[in-house]
Amino acid sequence: MRLALFASGTGSNVQAIIQAVEKGDLQAELACLICDQPSAPVIEKARTAGLPVFSLTYKAAGGKAAWEQAVVTYLKDQAVDILVLAGFMRIIGPDLLAAYPQAILNIHPSLLPKFPGKAGIKEAYEAGVSQTGVTIHWVDQEVDTGPIIAQEAITVSPDWTLDQLEAAIHQVEHRLYPATLQTLINDKLSS
Ligand code: GRF
Repeated sequence: MRLALFASGTGSNVQAIIQAVEKGDLQAELACLICDQPSAPVIEKARTAGLPVFSLTYKAAGGKAAWEQAVVTYLKDQAVDILVLAGFMRIIGPDLLAAYPQAILNIHPSLLPKFPGKAGIKEAYEAGVSQTGVTIHWVDQEVDTGPIIAQEAITVSPDWTLDQLEAAIHQVEHRLYPATLQTLINDKLSS
């Protein structure tokens, strides 16, 4: 299975997936990184790992639809099977959804359907929940609403700072995303 990673920022999840492939824990081919922010730190991480990088802003592409069409052409050329969103801060539009039905995954730092959107960790923290967690789900046309594939809960200690909660979330993400991808790939290969 050939995966394309999509990210816009730090790229700690991209790094975790790259390391899982390098260690043999995730048996997949990483085809490329798709990034919409040319100054994002994730680009350097991908390049260091030898991953081809497709970096283009919406503006330079001439808008969202043109960006997605350029990305679809690139992904088809790279024979990509699965799109893995890992901190990709854009809403996937109709061109990508139509080109890759049932093949786009996202990771979200809360127990969906609770705390969707961009500030899932902070909102859970400020709500004072005793449990939050990580969700991996299929992407549909809405934000953070697609069918859930995997979830892992984290118990929030009352004395944690927001930074400590973020660290705990990322630790789970970095283990759960590669493991879930491997399970999905096993399922696809055996079906
Ligand atoms: C992660 O918390 C992920 O769940 C969310 O965006 C964050 C990306 O972090 N969608 P990183 O860029 O992988 O470090």
